[in-house]
Amino acid sequence: MKLLCAIFFLLLLCSVAKAEGMGRQVVPQAATPAAPSSSARSLFVLRCAGCHGMDGSGSKLGLVPDMRRLGNFLRLEGGREFLIQVPGVMGSGLDDAQVAAVSNWLLATVAKDSVPAEHKPYTAEEITRLRAKPLVDVAAARQALVAQGQALGITID
Ligand code: HEC
Repeated sequence: MKLLCAIFFLLLLCSVAKAEGMGRQVVPQAATPAAPSSSARSLFVLRCAGCHGMDGSGSKLGLVPDMRRLGNFLRLEGGREFLIQVPGVMGSGLDDAQVAAVSNWLLATVAKDSVPAEHKPYTAEEITRLRAKPLVDVAAARQALVAQGQALGITID
């Protein structure tokens, strides 16, 4: 009898836990508050880290650049735009506010030490504008930025 009671109790616990889980799933997206840093971090983990690595260090083998000096792009003309116009960001499936949140999070954490003091965070409106003009040739655009950096003594990895 004791055993039966225990099993019944466990089943009850399970169904309560399940019902709670289901309740959470139906909460509409719009009801969640504007992306705090923890959710920007989850966006990074879910949508970016698969290629870029959890620490943003990228992969030489997969030709995925290191993100830890990303802030150096912000010192170059067109660099701020480039960081948003790359295909991984453009095609991430994230909305404009989420792209702004994850990019701002990256620059405030992973790439923190490379970001110039006068940098202003991205806004959703800026992302909307940049999305309207994607890069035609990513490699060429990056190469031009690397060259611009070399002339100014700014290293782009
Ligand atoms: C499918 C793999 C993949 C995913 C997913 C991905 N990226 Fe990338 N990312 C790349 C590759 C490869 C490059 C190198 C340039 C290129 O070929 O697009 C790159 C370049 C970049 C760059 C430019 C850095 C540089 O040094 O040139 C930024 C910024 C960036 N990604 C941000 C993101 C963000 C933010 C996300 C998530 C929303 C993301 N990426 C998701 C593969 C990916």
